[in-house]
Amino acid sequence: MTDHDIVNLFEQHHPSSLEQMQALGLNLEFVASGGNRKVYRLGQALAVKIGAPFNGEFHQTANEIKGIQKIYSNPRLESYHKHILPLFYGNADTGVIVTKFYPGEVKREWESDEKFNNLMQSLKSIGINDLFYANFRQDVDGTLVAVDLGFYHDREEL
Ligand SMILES: Nc1ncnc2c1ncn2[C@@H]1O[C@H](COP(=O)(O)OP(=O)(O)O)[C@@H](O)[C@H]1O
Ligand SMILES: [Mg+2]
Repeated sequence: MTDHDIVNLFEQHHPSSLEQMQALGLNLEFVASGGNRKVYRLGQALAVKIGAPFNGEFHQTANEIKGIQKIYSNPRLESYHKHILPLFYGNADTGVIVTKFYPGEVKREWESDEKFNNLMQSLKSIGINDLFYANFRQDVDGTLVAVDLGFYHDREEL
């Protein structure tokens, strides 16, 4: 199964739990969890983020979908795109996002690095809140990528 086939499976079946994904024949490997999402690696280069509901709603997932769409569709923000997780599949009703898997972990010590701090500040200026080391990962080429837009707040003026 290619990564493209996997994304098609999500689009056809909209699985909402680990069990439902496994029932579709997907092999998921746990990566990490945060306050709201559990993240698994699947396929060659994909990650799936499964949210937990709060009052029946998936707020972080909904914010993240909106944020990624807003930022990627704004040509003035193009220089930020490589620092923000892509959206291959997103469903605010089931709390599921499929994105790219980033292999590199970011350590707490990096928060005192000037370049890293500048990136955090500029991402904050475009509406991405709650950024700290654990909400970043590194791409294979070392690019720092914000992987948690759960607290994105739209800034209409941008
Ligand atoms: N695309 C990804 N590739 C690899 N690891 C990821 C990816 N997205 C998130 N993670 C890891 O999973 C953890 C939880 O994801 P996150 O989106 O921060 O969830 P939460 O909203 O619960 O904080 C992150 O801290 C990060 O270490
Ligand atoms: Mg997080």
